Amino acid sequence: MMTEEKLGKLLEDMSLQEKIDQMLQTAGSFYLSVSREALLGNITAFGIPQADMDEAGSILGTDDAKSLIDIQKRQMAKQPHHIPMLFMMDVIHGMRTIFPMPLAQAATFDPELAEKCASVSAGEAYVSGLHVAFSPMADLVRDPRWGRVMESFGEDPYLASLMCAGVVRGFQGEDMGESGKICACVKHFAGYGGAEGGRDYNTVQLSHPTLFDFYLRAYRAGIAAGAGMVMTSFNTIDDKPATTNEWLMRHVLREQMSFNGVLISDFGAIKETVAHGTSEDEKDAARQALTAGVDIDMMTGCYAANLAELVKEGKVSEKLIDEAVMRILRLKNKLGLFENPFRGADPEKEAKLQLTPENRALAEKQAEESFVLLKNNGILPLGAGPQKIAFIGPYCDNRNMISSWAVTGRADDTVTIREAAEKAFEKGAELRFEYGVPTLGKDQNYKGFEERNEADRIFADVEKNPQKHMDAAVKLASWADTVVLCIGEHYLQSGEATSRTDITLPKRQKELLSRVTEVNKNVVVVLFSGRPLVIRDIAENPAVQAILEVWMPGTEGGSAIVNVLTGKAEPGGRVPMSFPYCIGQIPVYYNHFSTGRPAEGHEEERFFSEYRDAPNDPLYEFGFGLTYSDFEVSEEKLSGTELTENGTITALAKVRNIGSREGTAVVQLYIQDVVGSQARPVKELKGFRRVTLAPGEEKEICFAVDEPMLRFYDGEGNFRSEAGEFRAFIGLSSRVKKSAAFRLIR
Ligand code: GLC
Repeated sequence: MMTEEKLGKLLEDMSLQEKIDQMLQTAGSFYLSVSREALLGNITAFGIPQADMDEAGSILGTDDAKSLIDIQKRQMAKQPHHIPMLFMMDVIHGMRTIFPMPLAQAATFDPELAEKCASVSAGEAYVSGLHVAFSPMADLVRDPRWGRVMESFGEDPYLASLMCAGVVRGFQGEDMGESGKICACVKHFAGYGGAEGGRDYNTVQLSHPTLFDFYLRAYRAGIAAGAGMVMTSFNTIDDKPATTNEWLMRHVLREQMSFNGVLISDFGAIKETVAHGTSEDEKDAARQALTAGVDIDMMTGCYAANLAELVKEGKVSEKLIDEAVMRILRLKNKLGLFENPFRGADPEKEAKLQLTPENRALAEKQAEESFVLLKNNGILPLGAGPQKIAFIGPYCDNRNMISSWAVTGRADDTVTIREAAEKAFEKGAELRFEYGVPTLGKDQNYKGFEERNEADRIFADVEKNPQKHMDAAVKLASWADTVVLCIGEHYLQSGEATSRTDITLPKRQKELLSRVTEVNKNVVVVLFSGRPLVIRDIAENPAVQAILEVWMPGTEGGSAIVNVLTGKAEPGGRVPMSFPYCIGQIPVYYNHFSTGRPAEGHEEERFFSEYRDAPNDPLYEFGFGLTYSDFEVSEEKLSGTELTENGTITALAKVRNIGSREGTAVVQLYIQDVVGSQARPVKELKGFRRVTLAPGEEKEICFAVDEPMLRFYDGEGNFRSEAGEFRAFIGLSSRVKKSAAFRLIR
């Protein structure tokens, strides 16, 4: 590793423009033979002179060892001090082995498992020669119209914090310079998930108490876990774009959160402050972003084309550039790039160490743990024995279940439901398969689908002969004992720029559901989605005996689904983000404020905070999930009713398996701060335990409650508790009602 002194010397030797070019991030495709207009757009349009491109400090979007070795060799030779480039990529939920999408990972309530999976992803990225993953996304979400909820860890700050910190540790280990480790990038700072109307890139309006106490917690956890990088968000905070918001980036991020790593803008976000109307032009945008402390300009020429002039005009101090470049050089140094600029990049290892059976097995396990059983009238598990099953729907034999952000993965690696089923069921079982309809009809083509329609080539005949396939589906449904209806969102319907006002099933699939449930009353719905959809029509359909939410389950999705359908594995997930009763209810989330007229307890009265045409409660609440067993929580009690500043009281309860097979319960601790100097949520998740019990087995679950657990962030970002009354709830979802009171005394 270079010493700080040597890094300082290197910085001193660099020309101003050379330093500025370290702050430029462009696309790897620019340096490869592929056309400059490759996927990431026309780079030359940024007006970046060739000389700057040749000295760019980092690239994104290239992810194979051979190309990255090639680029590093050629560019270092051109760089005046042969400073190696940083290679960054959206390794969001897996590299070649694709794990379940992040919201599904949150559903596991298993941060330790998420850490293991991130560690595997880091190892796979390492041999491809990558240095930084643009992950984890720490944005708190409350609006499933926003397609990026798929990449989040849901609506709860505590769960999201644990997941975020787990993924950072998985990617970076104790030392990101170690073999098999890469740098994590916590994003998008800050509050991106609060977009008004769930419309991507839209305005965000958050009070400071809500910003600090709900939206900032998971970023803080990722940074506290040592994340080497943070990415700015596209949205405004306090009506100022985050990317040029000095209060947010210097005061909150750098000072309050003590973040001294590299701050990178999101894709084009510096230039977009012109469109926000808060920068006059790209030069003004560059000035503001540098002043706010953004170190790397992702994919625009704002910095490269303007910073030198701004220094000469005395509008920015070169010192700010030096600070930014030092942070970039320190990161390169931490990764050991000065000693070995190619790090782990190795085409042979890439072929050998990615997508191994062990990695696949881990992906299968996390997928099983992520599935949420929303409804089950006893039809599941099916067992693997003799029976007639019709697997119907666009996902019955479809590899496209790795999400729109699995950009380094390949759908072809995925195991489909059909492939897994034909292996898992015993000889006597008769299995038939029919798509019936495409995931999305051609009439529902979304912007951006054109270039990736090859995913839907499997539906060519279904598009050509729709009636034939619908009739075939109905016929199969009539023949079968059980229908497994494999339906849901197209994988491109969640992710970036996929906001929708209608988050129900695609039209053609609604038709399929209705036709099939007319002729078969034993329907199991396997639901694929990147977000909580509005599914009351499915849940209330009397022929639908079970609903298994499988999200976008990744490379081993088919295997995990069949394991759960047969009962070889149990669905381990719990709802990480509320499923709305209807679209009009959005935003709906469990950790809401009481209001001055809480409807609870006043259902028959009029002037209370409720809708006249829908309940306040979601269809499925945060923390909910059925298992193949059944559990009851009883005898909740506290070891004391007064908690002192340095004391601890124990909240405990007994959980018993009252079902007929072994199962895992997720026992949850919620706490309510009954009175605060600012409104406090009606309850907040403060702990959970996954506990596996045999039939009839009972276990006492204890949670230690201490004063730090009761703290909250006020509008200045102070983290403090207030004496007074609290209530502790222990249950199997956020709908738990029974609680025990205690006081924090000072
Ligand atoms: C995108 C996303 C961000 C991603 C980046 C690089 O616009 O907002 O999450 O990491 O650009 O692809």
